[in-house]
Amino acid sequence: MRHLMSPLDFSVEELDELLTLAQDIEAHPDKYAHACDGKKLATLFYEPSTRTRLSHEAAMLNLGGSIMGFSSADSSSAAKGESVSDTIRTISCYADICAMRHPKEGAPMVACQHSSIPVINAGDGGHQHPTQTLTDLLTILNVKGRLNNMTIGLCGDLKFGRTVHSLIHALVRYTGIKFVMISPEELRLPDYMRHDVLDKQNISYKEVVRLEDAMPELDILYMTRVQKERFFNEEDYVRMKDFYILDKKKMKLAPEDMYVLHPLPRVNEISVEIDDDPRAAYFKQMQYGVYVRMALILTLLDIHVD
Ligand code: CP
Repeated sequence: MRHLMSPLDFSVEELDELLTLAQDIEAHPDKYAHACDGKKLATLFYEPSTRTRLSHEAAMLNLGGSIMGFSSADSSSAAKGESVSDTIRTISCYADICAMRHPKEGAPMVACQHSSIPVINAGDGGHQHPTQTLTDLLTILNVKGRLNNMTIGLCGDLKFGRTVHSLIHALVRYTGIKFVMISPEELRLPDYMRHDVLDKQNISYKEVVRLEDAMPELDILYMTRVQKERFFNEEDYVRMKDFYILDKKKMKLAPEDMYVLHPLPRVNEISVEIDDDPRAAYFKQMQYGVYVRMALILTLLDIHVD
């Protein structure tokens, strides 16, 4: 039985297979419409979500399966003090696979140690968000046609942004990847990511504060929101929240084939005036999230469609 805790749980070859499967699902959805008949997905969300929970659910429904779950800790027995390990033992009796989001780093890992069904980490605190990474990789592959030889700008909250941490882990395994980290000093990528992941693997990166300075050299700009829920005080959040606003003026500095991604939700960091720019890929990205989660469910359940 396999779980997904981190993008590193799949080899590069397995990731490539999964992305190819997601592309086939997009091209031939009818072929997969009954692949999970009789299977049940549970979504265990202890933190708010729109895309991740509902795209997992849409994925299972598109495959012919059924869904169950809770969308906040308050509406589960966690509110009465039940542990994650007891909850997952319970869910293992009811469902075939589950996706868990939790505010505490490592909670899905605890779950998978007590589970008899595959567990998908749907985001744990400021740590990892591997299914978002699968979505991001599929989007980059679809818009650029490759995952190698690329300069990726990561902009915004690089300290608390779990999508950024997961994406870096995944991309460093491809060749010719360079990063430009664009953040204010207070929201820099944590030391453990810079030293233990980037420096150790000799990955080329630089850090800049001004988005304008980075734009001309990027193939992909990955915008992120400032993670309000991870700040210890409101004052710091308010000071940081509008540090970056991507608008038409800044987009003029970017190459014609530079695409903008964002895991969403956005707050103010991308002006709605660029939503119609052909380089704005963030709405396609959330659609790709359904295909890639369909591919993930099939892979973890070891279901093959001819
Ligand atoms: N990208 C993402 O995780 O969005 P949600 O918080 O809406 O699930």
